[in-house]
Amino acid sequence: MLRAVTHRIALIPGDGAGPEVMAEARKAVDALGLDLEWTELPWGSVHYREHGAMMPPDGLDVVRRHDAILLGAVGDPSVPDHVTLWGLLLALRQGLDLWANLRPARLLDGVPSPLAGSPAVDMLFVRENTEGEYAGVGGRAHAGMELEVALETSVFTRAGVRRVVRYAFELAESRRGVLTSATKSNASRYGYVLWDEVVEEVAAEFPGVRHEHVLVDALAARMVTNPLSIDVVVASNLFGDVLTDIAAALQGGMGMAASASVAPSSGATPMFEPVHGSAPDIAGRGIANPVGAIWSAVLMLEQLGEGAAAHRLMRAIEAVCREGIRTADIGRRCDRDEGRGMTAFTAVLTCDPRHRKTLYRQGFPLAGL
Ligand code: IPM
Ligand code: MN
Repeated sequence: MLRAVTHRIALIPGDGAGPEVMAEARKAVDALGLDLEWTELPWGSVHYREHGAMMPPDGLDVVRRHDAILLGAVGDPSVPDHVTLWGLLLALRQGLDLWANLRPARLLDGVPSPLAGSPAVDMLFVRENTEGEYAGVGGRAHAGMELEVALETSVFTRAGVRRVVRYAFELAESRRGVLTSATKSNASRYGYVLWDEVVEEVAAEFPGVRHEHVLVDALAARMVTNPLSIDVVVASNLFGDVLTDIAAALQGGMGMAASASVAPSSGATPMFEPVHGSAPDIAGRGIANPVGAIWSAVLMLEQLGEGAAAHRLMRAIEAVCREGIRTADIGRRCDRDEGRGMTAFTAVLTCDPRHRKTLYRQGFPLAGL
């Protein structure tokens, strides 16, 4: 019989640096002492090479039996990216209809900013997550011939746009009350024009939120020149993808960025993943930045209704960053005597007694998580 447990987490370490950052995220969550159970699912490129598929045929049913998915990274140089991603990451986002991808971008104290004067960056991206340019609609004809053609069709549905726009308005209402909608409805005549119309319709339900339409190219520039003007951004799948890499850079780099794929009020199992990829160039060396993964676990705990634990873990990430314990990607190596970068970060974060030297030097412990 299954043990009664409050939260069942499906852990998909995946490829490249995924397993090592997931190990750190798991340690951090375990330090909180919650009643949760991990099921590790060995899906990814190794599974693909053994079985010809990134996950088993009943993969979606397996994850549906869990309360959340925590995923490391997908992608391996030995298999084409579109095969690995459509076989696992995009298969989960789309198969579970996780239509909103939340990506907070906040520059933490102690993390070097690429911006002069280190302005306070605090943005939330709400990326449409199942349609647009990622709908998977298209095809190729005349393979290999001079007249070969490839079509990649963007799909925008009124219902699909409306649900993500409405959710973004709700989130803006709970923050600073400003929503920026990113489109390209000067060059695109159909999909983004529909998107703009839906934003106007939904805006009428939220008189307390100031909203604006900004062309995505102009927004990309404004994120860098005037980041303080941005609170919540709602964007299509591809634009959200591109803008959130800029946002990650503004918050210190790809290793810092976290994400949550959710479908509010649907009962679908949500998925949490760092924004960085599998980073095959540095995988397995213990130097990957674990913050994006641990921060994703914070988002997971929030969605699971563990607000207090999420808050404690986020405060701990902030404290360790403030102390200057950082991986090389954000400017400084963790101390040599504490082992390699990522484990040192989590050891300090979780107050591991084997790392007492650092704990004392840094003025810790953090009084437990
Ligand atoms: C991301 C990634 C993915 C995306 C890729 C790996 C398909 O870049 O999560 O941002 O484009 O959504
Ligand atoms: Mn991306």
